Amino acid sequence: MPAKKTFYITTPIYYPSDKLHIGHSYTTIAADAMARFKRLTGHEVWFLTGTDEHGQKIQRSAEAAGKSPQLFVDEIVAWIKELWSVLDISYDDFIRTSEKRHREAVQKIFNKLYEQGDIYRGRYEGWYCTPCEAFWTARQAEEGNCPDCGRPVELVAEEGYFFRMSKYADRLLQHMEANPDFIQPVSRKNEMINNFLRPGLEDLCVSRTTFNWGIPVPFAPGHVIYVWLDALSNYITALGYGRDETLLKKFWPADIQLIGKEIVRFHTIYWPIFLMALGLPLPRQVFGHGWLILKEGKMSKSRGNVVDPMVLVERYGSDSVRYFLLREIPFGADGVFSNEAMLQRFNTDLANDLGNLLSRTVTMLERYFGGIIPSPGPEAHPSDRDLRELALETPERMVELMDKLQFSGALEALWTLVKRSNKYIDENTPWTLAKEEGKRQRLGTVLYNLCESLRFISVLISPYMPRTPRRIWSQLGIGDMPELQSWESLSHWGLFRAGLRACRTEDLFPRLNIEEELSSLLGEEEEQKKKEQAPASAGREQKNTAPGEGKLQELQKEEISLDDFARLDIRVGEIIAVELVPGTDKLLKMVVSLGTEQRQVVAGLAKHYTPAELRGKKALFLANLKPAKLRGLLSEGMILAATDASGKVVITTVDGDVAAGSRIS
Ligand code: MSP
Repeated sequence: MPAKKTFYITTPIYYPSDKLHIGHSYTTIAADAMARFKRLTGHEVWFLTGTDEHGQKIQRSAEAAGKSPQLFVDEIVAWIKELWSVLDISYDDFIRTSEKRHREAVQKIFNKLYEQGDIYRGRYEGWYCTPCEAFWTARQAEEGNCPDCGRPVELVAEEGYFFRMSKYADRLLQHMEANPDFIQPVSRKNEMINNFLRPGLEDLCVSRTTFNWGIPVPFAPGHVIYVWLDALSNYITALGYGRDETLLKKFWPADIQLIGKEIVRFHTIYWPIFLMALGLPLPRQVFGHGWLILKEGKMSKSRGNVVDPMVLVERYGSDSVRYFLLREIPFGADGVFSNEAMLQRFNTDLANDLGNLLSRTVTMLERYFGGIIPSPGPEAHPSDRDLRELALETPERMVELMDKLQFSGALEALWTLVKRSNKYIDENTPWTLAKEEGKRQRLGTVLYNLCESLRFISVLISPYMPRTPRRIWSQLGIGDMPELQSWESLSHWGLFRAGLRACRTEDLFPRLNIEEELSSLLGEEEEQKKKEQAPASAGREQKNTAPGEGKLQELQKEEISLDDFARLDIRVGEIIAVELVPGTDKLLKMVVSLGTEQRQVVAGLAKHYTPAELRGKKALFLANLKPAKLRGLLSEGMILAATDASGKVVITTVDGDVAAGSRIS
């Protein structure tokens, strides 16, 4: 048997400075779908992910949390691994840059580069963006802000080691020009060439001395290796660089390195140059995908608008969340994430198209054939041929699209088959065939073809929605037949065996009530936000007072003027009536008097207060917040509250005899 073709795919390694959000999950889900697709199509795959644990940003976050950096990252890394497990991420290795295997290999790399003269000692004076861990020149960091993230940069002046970037610049340019696929999408390649390579590369400072959470420079006490040199090396240290290099020989160069667009510069300029200096080949492709943003803009902890993937998976299952992300946004471009779009897709694509196809097929098998798969007769209708041909063409079509990382296109191609199968039912109306005695064989053929088409669909869907195939197979009675579940089995139409027993057990994707779901999600988000504004974290902020510090930036809101404050209409409100919103265990509906008027306010307080405890209380309300609907109920204001150390939400009551409606100033 010929050796399998190898395929090495990597994700960026994530900063464990905070929990990851749906944007981070997006990269990893895409990489996982690709890894699974390649495994399905017969490749020997190595899929690497991990965490980028060193550097000033992490050290400061750990200090702000009052923990040692190692303990701090250990806790978050455990959470990240849990997230990948609930999202069914099938990585082959998870590298942590604080591991010994990585540390030792990075020190070898640094030594080698120093010994061959690519690294020299000097003094760095310039600007540094801690959140991005990036050096900038005064020209680049115009007006004192990072060109990438817009946050303030800090002036840095310290002894350091420098890497001779300019020595390799021409070679890199030639490589980019000779290998058009090296950087994808192509717009990102042009940006790198025009903005960075052509103007000339400055030597890069590759060590730091003002903090110690990093890999020590082996021969220079007090110096730690620059976190990007440390981090980028993970892609080879995980394969055993400088140790047992069996995996390195087998899988390097990487076939695809997936990254977000803001770190393309590090991966297509620094990284290839380091590799050239190490005498290693460059990755075949670095793909810089777009960002998942929200309607109101960028998702970020500081704006308090991150979407928690754990919450979505808990409510809708990982397959649905994976499907939505891969289907909704063409990979490469930025895409807007909204709960509404997600729920709509669940209903149309998953519940209506795929779920109904299976339930209609199995229900009819049970109704007309007692669940036993009938033998097919000859093809008798043009729709038989159309369905067969489309099913047989779809796998190759998906290969082509996946080779271009068009996850959304590949799913669209698969859905063409799903929709064609539903149309096949409507064209052949099995319920009419069932009424005519002479049409029994035709009825059998139609249902058989539907089983076969569902078999194709279930195999092809597995890279994107790894849990769904088993659920389809078990209803179709082929759960224990690997020969019907393989890629090879998709070269043949008609492998499904007559005589097997189908059995309808569950709805694959029950339809969701979108309005109800939206308001519960809003309720969850409110709760989440309140938790994150807990005094425990406010306490932590105070320790961290130096300007420009990463974590501080994240926790503190930007300064506002008195005019900005004056836009908030915060008033004392008297809670006149309270009741639990029916069908929820979190939401309370309150009638609040603001002096001259009464408002309805819905808040996620039911776990923290009984209605009786709130009735008659006076508290602060934001009165000019745009009204929103929660569980179909209009909420015309927000009660202000904080969370205590135990996680209980405490409302901001007012002392003394202040009249309802009094304004805060
Ligand atoms: N630690 C570096 C990467 C080092 S790789 C040698 C880093 N980490 S990160 O945690 O900040 O980001 C990791 C990845 O998540 C990046 O590719 C980034 O683009 C991606 N995303 C973070 N937010 C995102 C969205 N909102 N949308 C899509 N991807 C986003 O950078």
